[in-house]
Amino acid sequence: MKGVVLAGGLGTRLSPLTRVTNKHLLPVYDKPMIFYPIQTLVNAGISEIMVVTGGGNAGDFLRLLGNGKDFGLKHLNYTYQEGEGGIADALRLTEFWADQGSVCVVLGDNIIQGNIRGAVEAFQAQGGGARILLKEVPDPQRFGVPVFDSAGNITAVVEKPKDPGSKYAVTGIYLYDARVYDIIRTLKPSERGELEITDVNNAYLNSGDLRYDILEGWWTDAGTFESLLRASRLVAETGANQL
Ligand code: DAU
Repeated sequence: MKGVVLAGGLGTRLSPLTRVTNKHLLPVYDKPMIFYPIQTLVNAGISEIMVVTGGGNAGDFLRLLGNGKDFGLKHLNYTYQEGEGGIADALRLTEFWADQGSVCVVLGDNIIQGNIRGAVEAFQAQGGGARILLKEVPDPQRFGVPVFDSAGNITAVVEKPKDPGSKYAVTGIYLYDARVYDIIRTLKPSERGELEITDVNNAYLNSGDLRYDILEGWWTDAGTFESLLRASRLVAETGANQL
């Protein structure tokens, strides 16, 4: 399976920190933010990785990451997202490279304490479809939120609901078969003008092909001032990407 790190977008929620650099190059404790999602993939045994970047500082990713030596990789792949068309728009750009195979997608601002090996193995055993990772959070209205029936099955995923149907967030770690690219082609931009990954997850749900795991250990995004600070604190206190 191949891995994708999505590090496009303009990071406007972190302005002025992002005025002259890309959000994913900002420090989270002792490393640039992008190091963590790459390490998440490498620790899951994924060595073929593509970074999707964008904006005015894309060349800095190459200077920073090169061929991935810091992660024990021999090679890294890059592609460029024009504009800020959404997470699914960024993922769309990896179709040529995925080459009809499955992908493990990690958002460039998602950092975890533990590892996702169990979820990757479970996805490989489930025989196609999609698998998402959930985490209980105090502020689900900031995220994609799953709604469950009484048997614990997901019945819908709602993006940033005012009145969340559960205490869980859909983390930015997704496992998809190659059908994801056909699904993206059917999407229409949301009210915020983006192709939403939540619409992708609902498409898999509607065809009965969405499974989930609950992520162990802490999880955080780092795309707001509060979460960027929390991410640095968590990494400093307990470390990230423990094997
Ligand atoms: O962090 C998990 C959450 O991420 C999920 O719970 C939500 O369902 C999902 O929509 C997303 O929510 P955010 O609004 O926090 O996503 P954000 O716009 O901050 O983008 C997250 C990452 O995705 C960003 O660090 C880089 C990548 N991205 C985003 C956009 C909009 C791209 O590569 N290209 C883009 O155009």
